Amino acid sequence: MANQSLDPTRIPAHVAIIMDGNGRWAKARHLPRVAGHKQGMEVVKTITKAASRLGIKVLTLYAFSTENWKRPTSEVSYLMRLPVDFFGTFMPELIQENVRVQVMGELDALPAKTRQAADDAMADTAQNTGMILNFALNYGARDELVQAARSMAQEAKEGQLDPTSIDAQVVADHLMTRHLAPWRTRIC
Ligand code: FPP
Repeated sequence: MANQSLDPTRIPAHVAIIMDGNGRWAKARHLPRVAGHKQGMEVVKTITKAASRLGIKVLTLYAFSTENWKRPTSEVSYLMRLPVDFFGTFMPELIQENVRVQVMGELDALPAKTRQAADDAMADTAQNTGMILNFALNYGARDELVQAARSMAQEAKEGQLDPTSIDAQVVADHLMTRHLAPWRTRIC
């Protein structure tokens, strides 16, 4: 469908994509699985620019789940290098598109170079005011709940949070998605 026929009032504010099928894409072309991941990374660049120009406010990409560590070591190593390549080559365009990068997940467990690439990308785009490009990296829903429960428990222990005041909004304020958009996480 051509862009001109899209109703701008019906563009979703937040689009989330679970990346899948990279291995099958490669297999169908008699290529190694990692070639599918490389192609997936290139597609992310195309989708990012298209989403930004459509006026989408947040684009979340599930790039690496907590379960993905179970893949062969060589594939995991390749996947961990992709953010370095991605931000290394795509940063000028992210700046040009006014896109702000966020990375959510258990970042402390990432290899140092991957972590550094994520931290640098967030810092380098922190002043951008356009679409948020939110990568879920070493992210898992259970992990997110554990992390939120821990931080609420810690605040309660320190006397900064009254346990009886915990409601859906307080939980939302402790999730990894809390930085994405205040208008989106406000529970009404
Ligand atoms: C799923 O395909 C894809 C992944 C597990 C990894 C995708 C991640 C990237 C391309 C890295 C991008 C990250 C950044 C930060 C740029 P699959 O391997 O499960 O495919 P299959 O279902 O065909 O086996």
